[in-house]
Amino acid sequence: MPRSSKMATSLAAATFAFIASSASAEPVKDDQLIVNGEEEIATEAPAPPHLDGAVGDTIYSGWLFRDTETRAMQKDDFDNPMFLFVDAGIEAWNTREGTAEKSCADCHNEIEDSMKGLRAELPKVTPEGELWSLENYVNDCRTNRMGAEPWGWNSQEMKNMTAAIGVQSRGMPVAVEIDGDAAPFWEKGKDMYYTRYGQLEMSCANCHEDNFGNYIRSDHLSQGQINGFPLYRLKDQGAVSTHQRFVGCVRDTRGVPFEAGSQEFRELELYVASRGLGLLVETPAVRH
Ligand code: HEC
Ligand code: HEC
Repeated sequence: MPRSSKMATSLAAATFAFIASSASAEPVKDDQLIVNGEEEIATEAPAPPHLDGAVGDTIYSGWLFRDTETRAMQKDDFDNPMFLFVDAGIEAWNTREGTAEKSCADCHNEIEDSMKGLRAELPKVTPEGELWSLENYVNDCRTNRMGAEPWGWNSQEMKNMTAAIGVQSRGMPVAVEIDGDAAPFWEKGKDMYYTRYGQLEMSCANCHEDNFGNYIRSDHLSQGQINGFPLYRLKDQGAVSTHQRFVGCVRDTRGVPFEAGSQEFRELELYVASRGLGLLVETPAVRH
């Protein structure tokens, strides 16, 4: 289980007390994510070899660190507020737009077939050697194939679409490529994960590797996995993208975050995704 905090700075230590894990602080053991009473989604997996034991031998979904009510909302698509956005995304999928007067469906047909498995593999390197997240692919088609305006990375339209595409991979194992062309991006993402940011001089690893299972303020720290994004955040009463969550976490260290969609955050996304290799896609998840 979590190793003890390696917090170095007294400022950080004074600002955040990591409350050590008691039995009740550990990921829940007596609940199972069964969606709509039929689809069982495993919420833990053996840690990928590249982590070299850094989080012990198991990786856990963030779902296991949330309270009973929040967990329950993710078990039923009628209770999961993200499904309003999934429906809106599917409507957009079928809507003709832009100078080409084409819809996504005109070229890709059924979203259930053409987009199945994609979420689990992204971000990935394009034939041109760029690292692209799902949002890049969506906007590439909008601008270059439809003659439509690109959507903002964190716009509601984009989150509707990434949720609608993402749910087609629900239950499939995260399978991002980290070797070959992807390796240099992955290395940069890894460096970033272990870099201390902000006035508090804290890295992602300080919270999500060294202290998962512990409490910080009233929050039960998870491993910071991204297999459920985009997800519904009850606190914001809205959808949250992966990069939006990264921005929030960097801000919590009183650091200045990179922008959503930036090269840096796509590299970080690849690395964080790879920490969840083998965990099943839960898009769209629910968090408090
Ligand atoms: C004029 C045809 C056309 C339209 C319209 C179109 N696409 Fe595409 N899309 C393509 C082609 C061609 C590719 C690249 C080849 C491929 O992988 O299928 C692609 C690739 C993609 C990919 C990456 C797929 C992968 O497997 O790597 C995504 C995601 C995508 N499109 C989403 C969308 C969305 C969402 C819309 C509507 C907003 C849309 N596309 C509209 C033709 C289109
Ligand atoms: C000061 C501690 C702290 C730091 C540093 C931090 N986070 Fe977080 N993070 C949190 C808290 C608290 C939450 C909400 C509870 C949870 O899921 O762990 C959270 C949630 C997340 C989530 C959502 C997980 C889920 O399942 O909903 C992701 C992803 C994440 N963080 C990634 C990162 C990344 C990447 C970094 C480094 C850029 C980072 N965090 C740095 C405290 C931190």
